[in-house]
Amino acid sequence: MLEKIREIYKEVESIVIENAEQLEKFRIAYVGRKGVIADLFENLRNAPPEDRRAIGAELNNLKNLAQDTFTQNRDRLENEQTQTGQPAPVDLTLPGTPNQLGAVHPLSIVRARIVEIFERIGFNVADGPEIEDDWHNFTALNFPPNHPARDMQDTFFVEKNPDIALRTHTSSVQVRLMENGKPPFRAIMPGRVYRNEAISARAHCLFHQVEGLYIDENVSFADLKQTLYYFAKELFGKDTKIRFRPSFFPFTEPSAEIDISCFICKGKGCNICKYSGWVEIGGSGMVDPNVLSNCGIDPEKYTGFAFGMGIERITMLLYQVKDIRLFTENDVRFLRQFGPVS
Ligand code: DAH
Repeated sequence: MLEKIREIYKEVESIVIENAEQLEKFRIAYVGRKGVIADLFENLRNAPPEDRRAIGAELNNLKNLAQDTFTQNRDRLENEQTQTGQPAPVDLTLPGTPNQLGAVHPLSIVRARIVEIFERIGFNVADGPEIEDDWHNFTALNFPPNHPARDMQDTFFVEKNPDIALRTHTSSVQVRLMENGKPPFRAIMPGRVYRNEAISARAHCLFHQVEGLYIDENVSFADLKQTLYYFAKELFGKDTKIRFRPSFFPFTEPSAEIDISCFICKGKGCNICKYSGWVEIGGSGMVDPNVLSNCGIDPEKYTGFAFGMGIERITMLLYQVKDIRLFTENDVRFLRQFGPVS
């Protein structure tokens, strides 16, 4: 009998209990009233009286070992459960943990407002690829072969293929639109653009633009002015004035820079408008006849205007954001200020 006791002792010593199920099996086999140890106590009666004392002592040791193994493993398993947060007791009366609401990115808010304003006056939304070829980004837009904007300074080219680059402006989408359709065209084209520029508070190597294009018979500069005037009043407030400054772009003739009256100081002069009363929001012009013919459109029959504006620039003006880098840093303290998703 002593041998049997020692055998079971070794068994209990080497047992590994990993979960509640194994613990219960162990309890039934060794600790319970119908287990092996209880059986041995029963059998103690049949042992020769002179041996009973010694056997009884060993049996008690075994019983204690089994009991200790059980309680230690039970406590350990319970502890693990509470640490992993598994089925610990739940207090259903506690208040719930509120869900954190995200916020719409300020650039998305402004892009959506721009789109919504132009949609009201019949513009569709179009888009094109961010990885472009030279034709769509430059050549079709009437950039001469040695134009400085093609320079490595401004453009991210694909290393092994100088014909492929990240688009430097959304004007490339104009070309795709005109090549693939028939006039009239009336579309705006928001999207991300890339320039090989040093990052600072005012410039970034990636930003967003919204391009506009209107091509039909008899479209004039007056249509351009009126369209942008309507847009400026809707976005910046009904007292906003608009001003066109002569400029140059290869793809428009004539070309003009678009200024709006400073809606912060109402034209009186402040540091946003650098005390001029005006702030620039983009470029525009009448689509150059060369661009129309490059895209398969008869410049004798059709005319049109185009414009391009920086979404970061407009957002910075609207919300008085002083550093363009904030838009891409994903700092929740910045993003939260634009309100939760409604
Ligand atoms: N593509 C120009 C730029 O990135 C902006 C621009 C100017 C777009 C005049 C136009 C335009 O469509 O007519 O600076």
